[in-house]
Amino acid sequence: MDFKDLIQKRRSIRKFTDEQISQDDVVELMKAALLSPSSMGKQAWEFVVIEDKDTLAKLSQCKDHGADLLKGAALAVVVLGDSSVSDVWIEDASIAALMIQLQAENLGLGSCWVQVRNRYKDNEIPANNNVQELLNIPEHMQCVCIIGIGHKGQKVNPKEEGSLPWEILHIGTYKSEE
Ligand SMILES: Cc1cc2nc3c(=O)[nH]c(=O)nc-3n(C[C@H](O)[C@H](O)[C@H](O)COP(=O)(O)O)c2cc1C
Repeated sequence: MDFKDLIQKRRSIRKFTDEQISQDDVVELMKAALLSPSSMGKQAWEFVVIEDKDTLAKLSQCKDHGADLLKGAALAVVVLGDSSVSDVWIEDASIAALMIQLQAENLGLGSCWVQVRNRYKDNEIPANNNVQELLNIPEHMQCVCIIGIGHKGQKVNPKEEGSLPWEILHIGTYKSEE
């Protein structure tokens, strides 16, 4: 698949088959993360790769909504950012997360971003705290998101090119002529 097709066809996948991801593919996914651009090349990220079903199920409970898909994923990559390394650790970590998602699509796998930063369990416990505790993550490494990955168990249609919101694109200057 060329890149044009890849970005056109990629959709968030939240249902997966039971098939495991090959170790070669896991390596390719993590290579994509480690090849990511980062501010001043500081690479203010680290990753925890999870395949254990019990841990995936526990991660799916880290926040109130939107993490269920992790229960059925073959693999989760917990994306951590280090604020002591860079003031733009959120951007660094987010770009690495997207690189993993694009590589997943390239390998024919499905993926979905699970937001952890600024999300809560029972409306009060930061989801980040739950993830840190479960995986023994040191306090200075904040979880930005978890990417759930697996073989696609659902078909999600590509977005129609005709439905793209071109009106939010501004040419040359923000203010358009009346
Ligand atoms: C920053 C960010 C946070 C997201 N958080 C979640 C989430 O917690 N749970 C979830 O199921 N999907 C989450 N998503 C996936 C979005 O819902 C999805 O990308 C959006 O609906 C567009 O659909 P598409 O990815 O199929 O194009 C998130 C995506 C982004 C970029």
